[in-house]
Amino acid sequence: MQLFLDTTDTAVLAELAQTGLLDGVTTNPTLIARSGRPMLEVIKEICDIVEGPVSAEVAATDTATMIKEGEKLAAIATNVVVKVPLTWDGLKAVRIFSESGIMTNVTLCFSAMQAMMAAKAGATFISPFVGRLDDHGADGMDLIQEIRAIYDTYDFDTEILAASIRTVVHVKEAALFGADCATIPPQVFRDLVKHPLTDRGLEAFLSDWAKTGQSIL
Ligand code: G3P
Repeated sequence: MQLFLDTTDTAVLAELAQTGLLDGVTTNPTLIARSGRPMLEVIKEICDIVEGPVSAEVAATDTATMIKEGEKLAAIATNVVVKVPLTWDGLKAVRIFSESGIMTNVTLCFSAMQAMMAAKAGATFISPFVGRLDDHGADGMDLIQEIRAIYDTYDFDTEILAASIRTVVHVKEAALFGADCATIPPQVFRDLVKHPLTDRGLEAFLSDWAKTGQSIL
């Protein structure tokens, strides 16, 4: 499973990129606004930190302007993925981008039929928003399972990028249900490795080892 960070915090990104376990980054207009920085500048910096796919979202809602914005974003670096909303204008833009070799991430996906249409349009990634469905009393993971079944049935190449992830359990379930990637907040990424029994067990090992008075080196 590819793990992406859902952040524009380049300091945190640089720290976690050093683990060698980070496969890409996603951003969105809210994260860009939160950074307080010019979008093109922060996307460029992110692309310099991470070699993998970096999603940068258009602001336009009409196809023609999406194309202009997307081409400008794609020109920042070869690993930029142009993110577009799941609308008819967005899918028309995806078809054009896919014909010109620009990678796309179709975002704000909340139904299996939306995901199917994005795959038919040639999307590189589809971003089903698991957490926001959960927030509305649905089970966001049902959507991951539905999309996986449809994509496998019709052999679509679009990669499922589980998004709006809130917990380690979300990442586990997305992995179990066959999502190709998950984009996760930095703290959830850190928590993937943490377990209190590991900490407790290591503490006991080190304590018992200290009693031996031995040294390996
Ligand atoms: O950036 C895409 C998605 O992961 C954002 O989800 O619900 O945390 O705003 P959310």
